[in-house]
Amino acid sequence: MARIFIISNRVAVPNSGNHPGGLEVVLKATLRKHPCVWLGWSGEVNAKPRTQTILQDDNEYIVTDLKPEDFDEYYNGFANRVLWPIFHYRLDLAEFSRRDLSGYLRVNDHFADELVKVLGPEDIVWVHDYHLIPLAKALRARGLKNRIGFFLHIPLPPPEILTAMPNHETLIPSLGDYDLVGFQTDGDAANFARYLAKELGTPSHISLRLGSGDRAMRIGTFPVGIETRHFSRLAGKSIRTKMVQQVLHSIPGALMIGVDRLDYSKGITARLDAYERFLAAYPEWHGKITYLQITPKSRSAIKEYADMEAAVNSAAGRINGAYSDASWAPVRYVNRAYSRTALAGLYRAARVGLVTPMRDGMNLVAKEYVAAQDPEDPGVLILSRFAGAADEFRDALLVNPYDPDAVGAAIARAMAMPLAERKQRHADLYATLLQNDISKWGDRFLKALAPRDKAAAAREAQALRDFIAPTGPATIAPAGPPTTRQ
Ligand code: G6P
Repeated sequence: MARIFIISNRVAVPNSGNHPGGLEVVLKATLRKHPCVWLGWSGEVNAKPRTQTILQDDNEYIVTDLKPEDFDEYYNGFANRVLWPIFHYRLDLAEFSRRDLSGYLRVNDHFADELVKVLGPEDIVWVHDYHLIPLAKALRARGLKNRIGFFLHIPLPPPEILTAMPNHETLIPSLGDYDLVGFQTDGDAANFARYLAKELGTPSHISLRLGSGDRAMRIGTFPVGIETRHFSRLAGKSIRTKMVQQVLHSIPGALMIGVDRLDYSKGITARLDAYERFLAAYPEWHGKITYLQITPKSRSAIKEYADMEAAVNSAAGRINGAYSDASWAPVRYVNRAYSRTALAGLYRAARVGLVTPMRDGMNLVAKEYVAAQDPEDPGVLILSRFAGAADEFRDALLVNPYDPDAVGAAIARAMAMPLAERKQRHADLYATLLQNDISKWGDRFLKALAPRDKAAAAREAQALRDFIAPTGPATIAPAGPPTTRQ
């Protein structure tokens, strides 16, 4: 029986204490329904790397250590100091070195070597995220003919930004070795199509020639969602727990919440600035709102992350210094991680959810905040227009995170919003969540990745040509057949 091979940098091995956040949730249904093998980094760094296989509930987990130089050059280097900033539109933060690039390619080759040992001819390979862009190329070089799909969890910038990346000429077109390349939003998919059209010549080259032989690379949009009903139930229970009740009793007035990894793409300092503007412009809310920002540390070995930690600490301290009194501090800034259950309860308890990344692939905090609300007395989501979730969440208070006065005004509007409007907005957002529940996401991708008959392939080739025709991204939305969004 054909198996699904999931390949990603981090692996969520059940009961291992290794929880790579979103990935675990989005792949849960796939792991339950199909026999899967999940291969990736063990999270360990070792001079003598080992590869281990773990069997759990009909699935197999193959985890491999990284050597210290791989960790530096692949993970801290090319993946997180070049691809991450550039894909989040931050050319100014990218630090390219040929050494890091060769480490990145070396780890992709290592993953490919591990894979060919265990992959059968009928197995389907599904690769996740920016760490592993050239993996299909490495597998094809080893003679593999399997169906291979790729899903990018983070944004893809327009070609004007992407082409500033050294070596983009080989890396980005290597996505052509996949049978299907999936993105979070139509905008990301359009950026990719425009890159291909601009960099690789006429649009008609794309349909068949990007692959080898008669294989066509297809592009699709597969926005990730959450387990809406499950999370909603979890929040209903968790709000009654001692921890959440203690938080609520310890603050005067309403709770506003932000939950993000400590990452510059999340816009935490800009958000604190916006909150400061709010406190300055709306003194009537002093003592009646507490902003809880939960921010687990991440990628601390990278300088930009350490710098950011200092900047956030100082902004939170500055605001508390300026506005606190003996019974109220406007900001609670917490550097530790909380369980999903605890977060669900805190979301439900929060009158405002503040999700204002400068750029984000999707942002599942926004979705979980909505799912967690009490429909009879829901909180208000303030959402950056630059999060992928903004494409679906038109009923959130959409803001430009680069405009602190506007974000401050949105906080005031959310705090004063009448119940009827809160309920209406929440009902619309919740309905949107249900339409795109994560339980269907994996199957949608895998169905699109399955082999096509010749007629379907010809139709797709034509659709792909139309998709990247010079009329550009505007043709993509509802009429674009390769866009598999539902
Ligand atoms: C983002 C990426 C994931 C990554 C996660 C945590 O969500 O899309 O691929 O795993 O951040 O980052 P880390 O570097 O800790 O794995």
